[in-house]
Amino acid sequence: MPRLAYVNGAYVPHDKGAVHIEDRGFQFADGVYEVITVEQGRLVDEEGHLTRLARSLAELEMDWPMTARSLRIVMRELIRRNRVRDGIVYLQITRGSAPRDFAYPAGVTPTIVMTARRMNLHPPERTERGVSVITIPDIRWKRRDIKSVALLPQAMGKQKARTAGAFEAWQVDDDGFITEGCSSNAWIVTKDGVLVTRPASNLILNGITRQSLLRIAGELGLSYEERPFTTEEAYEAKEAFISSATTYAMPVTQINDRVVGNGRPGDLVTRLRAAYRSYATGVPRHAA
Ligand code: PDD
Repeated sequence: MPRLAYVNGAYVPHDKGAVHIEDRGFQFADGVYEVITVEQGRLVDEEGHLTRLARSLAELEMDWPMTARSLRIVMRELIRRNRVRDGIVYLQITRGSAPRDFAYPAGVTPTIVMTARRMNLHPPERTERGVSVITIPDIRWKRRDIKSVALLPQAMGKQKARTAGAFEAWQVDDDGFITEGCSSNAWIVTKDGVLVTRPASNLILNGITRQSLLRIAGELGLSYEERPFTTEEAYEAKEAFISSATTYAMPVTQINDRVVGNGRPGDLVTRLRAAYRSYATGVPRHAA
């Protein structure tokens, strides 16, 4: 069964999918995207991702290429045609193609590309052992709240992580506070058992998983604070973890050369991961 992509209104073989050489996504990173996880055939946090997509488009004064309703239908069709039960849908919208000129061109049709692929969402070597992160300076622009495809700083950061044998790189602002990972939000649990994650602002991407985890934490009666934290505070934390569409809540057991807590995934992140997974799949959780 050939893998299919959706490109500007047509389902095409994945390896034949193409956009124009003057697409503004290609030339200016003038585009936005979303990654939505599919677990047991369900689109996880679909509403949240589409709400954020609408916001990203509005911030860049970009048009929707199709109605949100049609977009939902195409996502489902792509999942079906690619037989994805567990995996992701990637969707990208750019302003479209036009002769190269920095300012926004008038009257262009946005480009839309969607792909779907299978993925192991629960690799035990990560979920059961936890992952390691390194810290790097945050060198990005100041509109990190827009989920734009301008990801070069994050690609550089992830490469540094890979070279160091780590899973993720936590970016640190000029005042020593962690902003977020290169493709995830950053969390710690203090010695008193309080969940801490940086508040939403222009300085981080307000993760949809982050938002759902905060809601679930509230439902579970866990205490949490939305405030910045430093690398030193993270070293001393009882637990640390990252969150994103593809990782859910993933334990972090090492930060640079420091072991977090007892070096094993903590209780709170384990509970949150299980609760998020139940929410994602619609299967009620059992009392842990
Ligand atoms: N990344 N922060 C950054 C910089 C991100 O790129 C992401 C997501 C997140 C988490 O957001 P969410 O919970 O909505 O996935 C935070 C996606 C997964 C990616 O680029 O692949």
